[in-house]
Amino acid sequence: MPVDVRIVEVGPRDGLQNEKTLVSTADKIELIDRLSATGLRSIEATSFVSPKWVPQLADAAEVYAGIERRPGIAYPVLVPNETGYDRARAAGVAEIAVFTAASEAFNRTNINASIAESLQRFTPVLDRARADGVRVRGYVSTVLGCPYQGAVPVADVVRVARALHEMGCYEISLGDTIGVGTPAAARAMLRAVAAEVPMPALAVHFHDTWGQALANVLACLEEGVAVIDSAVSGAGGCPYAKGASGNVASEDVVYMLHGMGVRTGIDLDRLAETGNWLASKLGRASGSKVGQALAAR
Ligand code: HMG
Ligand code: MG
Repeated sequence: MPVDVRIVEVGPRDGLQNEKTLVSTADKIELIDRLSATGLRSIEATSFVSPKWVPQLADAAEVYAGIERRPGIAYPVLVPNETGYDRARAAGVAEIAVFTAASEAFNRTNINASIAESLQRFTPVLDRARADGVRVRGYVSTVLGCPYQGAVPVADVVRVARALHEMGCYEISLGDTIGVGTPAAARAMLRAVAAEVPMPALAVHFHDTWGQALANVLACLEEGVAVIDSAVSGAGGCPYAKGASGNVASEDVVYMLHGMGVRTGIDLDRLAETGNWLASKLGRASGSKVGQALAAR
């Protein structure tokens, strides 16, 4: 079990990208600024993907320009191709995340490319990022199951994670996009990837569709992973993953970690306040049990 864990807060991106009602640019900026005051060190701010594919995040440049970028906090953004990289750089972005999947069928639906094509698209992006001093994170989706293909062989996850790492991604986030995994499968998958990519370069990213996310996080912590992706109020979902629902709630992860004596540097009360504020903006109850429990006190 690690002593320190870094939470990568993906609420402003993964949390909002699947919202049907447009969230205002001002609210997106306020969400990130509030998160910046909680002690988080990584906040995924938005996506420079095609606005035709994800209309909710069409205001990526305005959001990035409007947030207060605090020293010591990374504000990565999703970039699918060179067009996205150009837009992100024009906005002043200093860290990006590229994303592909372990399943061909999901990749085709999500980014209109095969796995091999997606990796090819990333090559010039990674080259330019290296030259520009931009840090690059890499995502592998559908690591424990695919909505279109079903089972995903662990060997495919390992192959794609290794490819992203070899291309120069400093960290690879392993995503259970549709939240179907259970702890033993999550542990086995992580162990197999960690045999090829060093554990300090790995992160885990669980969605809670089947109620397994926190259990999966714990199993992976016990394997030694020290970077966890999560979203305040358990917001989240991928518009191109049928049936995917929210990310594991950041508040729930932080409460569990602090309860086990693991440091995050995060002020849980402030984080929960932010999660509850976001839930109220989205017009629903918080998807975080901890957020609900703190609000009821
Ligand atoms: P395409 O249609 O194959 O691309 O989409 P294209 O190159 O043919 O371009 C089509 C049009 O989009 C063109 O405009 C381009 O200029 C424009 P037109 O000529 O028709 O006017 N375009 C762009 N505009 C702005 N920014 C860009 C951009 N690229 C092209 N970057 C593409 C391919 C990759 C662009 C598209 O499929 C896409 O944007 N997909 C994004 C899907 C997405 O964001 N999914 C959710 C994120 S992944 C996720 O949630 C999983 C994760 O959380 C981990 C997990 O849970 O597993 C990360
Ligand atoms: Mg996700």
